[in-house]
Amino acid sequence: MSASRTDQLRAIRDEIVGLVQSPLYQYRTQNGYFPVIGQGDHYANIMFIGEAPGKNEAETGLPFCGASGRVLDELLASINLDRQQVYVTNIVKDRPPNNRDPQKAEIELYAPFLERQIDIIQPNVIATLGRFSMEFVLRRFGSARANQRISQLHGTVIDVSTSYGKASVVPLYHPAAALYNASQRSTLEHDFQALIPFISDDKPSTMKLL
Ligand code: URA
Repeated sequence: MSASRTDQLRAIRDEIVGLVQSPLYQYRTQNGYFPVIGQGDHYANIMFIGEAPGKNEAETGLPFCGASGRVLDELLASINLDRQQVYVTNIVKDRPPNNRDPQKAEIELYAPFLERQIDIIQPNVIATLGRFSMEFVLRRFGSARANQRISQLHGTVIDVSTSYGKASVVPLYHPAAALYNASQRSTLEHDFQALIPFISDDKPSTMKLL
C-alpha cells in the first residue's frame, strides 16, 4: 500500500529539518526557528503558495500566521473559505534573514519539496501569492504565460498540465501588498473571486500542520 498523504508530507518535513546544505539552515538553528512546511487540508482543491516564512512563521512553524496571514484569512473569508478547506505553503521553507526576497539558489534548493507537495495534494487550483511563486509555478508547468508580469496575469485562470492531470493556476498579488495599500486590497478581493468556481466541499477536511 502506498504511504498516506500525511506520511509523505512527514517525510518531506523530516528531510527539510535535516537540510544542512541549505544556506538558511544555520540561521534557522541559531535563532531557534522552525522550518515552515505547510498547513491545511491534505485533500484541498485549492493550494496557496507564498514566498518564504517571515519571523512569526519561523517562530511557530505555521505559514502565514503574522500580518500577511491576517489579510489572507480576510480574503479567504470574503469568498466563504477558511484555512481548514485549503492548503497553504511557501516555495522556500526557511526564513531568509531580514525578510529579504528569496534568492535563486534558495528557490532551486527548496523547489523539489514544493513539487512533491503539489504531487501529493493534487490541487485543482494552485493560487500563487506574489511574483516569485507565480514565476516558479508557471515555469515549472511549462506555461506559455511564464514570461508575463504579475500585473498582467493577476486574477486570471491559467490552465496547466500536471503529473496528475489538468489543473489551473491563479496568480494573485502577495497579501502583504494589501497591508498598506487600499487599492491593492480591493484588487486582491476582486481577484480572489476567480477561485469561487473551484470551491468544493465534497472532500474530507483534515486540517493539519504539515
Ligand atoms: N509571507 C509569505 O510569503 N509566506 C508566509 O508564510 C508568510 C509571509
